[in-house]
Amino acid sequence: MIVETLSVFPEMFEQVMATSILGRARKKGILDFRAHDLRDWTHDRHRSTDDEIYGGGAGLLMCCPPIFEAIDDITSTGPAPHVIFFTPTGQPFDQDMALELSGYERLVMVCGRYEGFDERVYTLADRCISLGDYVLTGGELAAMVVTDAVVRLLPGALGDENSAVEESFAEGLLEFPQYTRPASYRGMEVPEVLLSGNHGAIAQWRRRAAIEKTARLRPDMIDTAPLADEERAYADTIRADSD
Ligand code: ADE
Repeated sequence: MIVETLSVFPEMFEQVMATSILGRARKKGILDFRAHDLRDWTHDRHRSTDDEIYGGGAGLLMCCPPIFEAIDDITSTGPAPHVIFFTPTGQPFDQDMALELSGYERLVMVCGRYEGFDERVYTLADRCISLGDYVLTGGELAAMVVTDAVVRLLPGALGDENSAVEESFAEGLLEFPQYTRPASYRGMEVPEVLLSGNHGAIAQWRRRAAIEKTARLRPDMIDTAPLADEERAYADTIRADSD
């Protein structure tokens, strides 16, 4: 997958894109990442990418010309990209969207700064994404979060192919609790069944524990989780107890 970012702080991406799973995905050729500097498409002495807001208002807005010219240039070669803008007014990002984005051959992510974008830039967007109901100082961190969540879903990006299947949200539930050595620590014991070697019993316990944890910590997820009738009844008793 090709991921490109367009931003006034391309250097912000260096460390994150060179570390751990993302760094390895690049070395393995699973991820081809490139951070473009929006200032390369400015024409004035100050290389400005922002301007005052028509009609008044505090702060500065990212203006159209550098962004339109950059997107024209970037998209003039290579596979047709899916162009993403980051803004708090976008679609909320979640695991389903990460999975959908992992199907594109090329993503171009436009990261704003200041008070946001001139509204006309959104005509370039295939999609606008929000990370959540809060305001970041810029879209770069959002682009890193989305790239991380998407790239780890690509075949070969994680060492163990199963780890993206069984984790939180993959089945509409939070992931079951997990433990490692020591079996007993400061009076806290690992559930006996997990030490039993009985794979059937372990799978059953994990399913139950995932339902219990989801009902307790994220009751909102239970309504849409694919549960058997008996499992839903169990989840409802947990929810009722936590109310
Ligand atoms: N830019 C500023 N705030 C943002 C948010 N919450 N999500 C995505 N991009 C942003």
